[in-house]
Amino acid sequence: MKAQDRIFLALDVNSYRRAEELVTRLKDYVGGFKVGSQLFTRAGPRVLRMIKKAGKPIFLDLKYHDIPATVARAAEEAVRHGVSIFNVHISGGYEMMWACVETCGKLSREKSLPKPLILGVTLLTSLTDADLSDLGIQRRIDAQVLSLGRMAQKAGLDGVVASPQEVKALRDAFGKDFIILCPGVRPAGANKHDHHRSATPKDAIAAGADYIVVGRPILDAPDPVLVCQRLIQEIKQASPR
Ligand code: C5P
Repeated sequence: MKAQDRIFLALDVNSYRRAEELVTRLKDYVGGFKVGSQLFTRAGPRVLRMIKKAGKPIFLDLKYHDIPATVARAAEEAVRHGVSIFNVHISGGYEMMWACVETCGKLSREKSLPKPLILGVTLLTSLTDADLSDLGIQRRIDAQVLSLGRMAQKAGLDGVVASPQEVKALRDAFGKDFIILCPGVRPAGANKHDHHRSATPKDAIAAGADYIVVGRPILDAPDPVLVCQRLIQEIKQASPR
């Protein structure tokens, strides 16, 4: 995989037009585009069609978390949209993840549609040990992430979304074929915003991440292309697997 293909730009913007500008300007500098709840709520599936037309992979980041039947039906729609990756919250439970995997597999076989990678969200990078304790979870973050990763693998998910700080433990525990995608990645010295568990792109990739998601460091930069080029250089230095 080329270094640039490891980068998904989070299109966390409030209009279709701004998303289109970013896709046009940055499509040659990133691997794909992540569409999350803000842009999807604002612009809907039209934005997915626009990214597909630009020939780039889509990560639909809606973090499904509902009863198994509802998540399975939402997942079917993600398959129909032709996204490359989508995600569910592992804390939605084994049955929910399993229903999602089964339904997507069946639909893609029957309709000859490509099956997206289905990733499980472990713990958001904004959470701390204190938040876990408030939620009534007695384990520490690292142990909880591994336990969630185990559930995801058992349910047949392709991999997980996790903080860069947990990548090494996940990679060691689940092997080379388990996909690990990391948000909360920040170039050295950059503003960490609301991420409590972040790392540099170089460290995330060196620890074993397959993909990184970067939003504000690119979106807010005076020269977004330059930021992407620096990210690519950093990833190359990490000598990815
Ligand atoms: O702007 P920034 O680089 O912080 O954007 C991070 C992106 O990753 C956001 O779109 C956020 O929704 C997403 N994210 C995620 N899972 C996490 C943390 C952040 O998908 N655990």
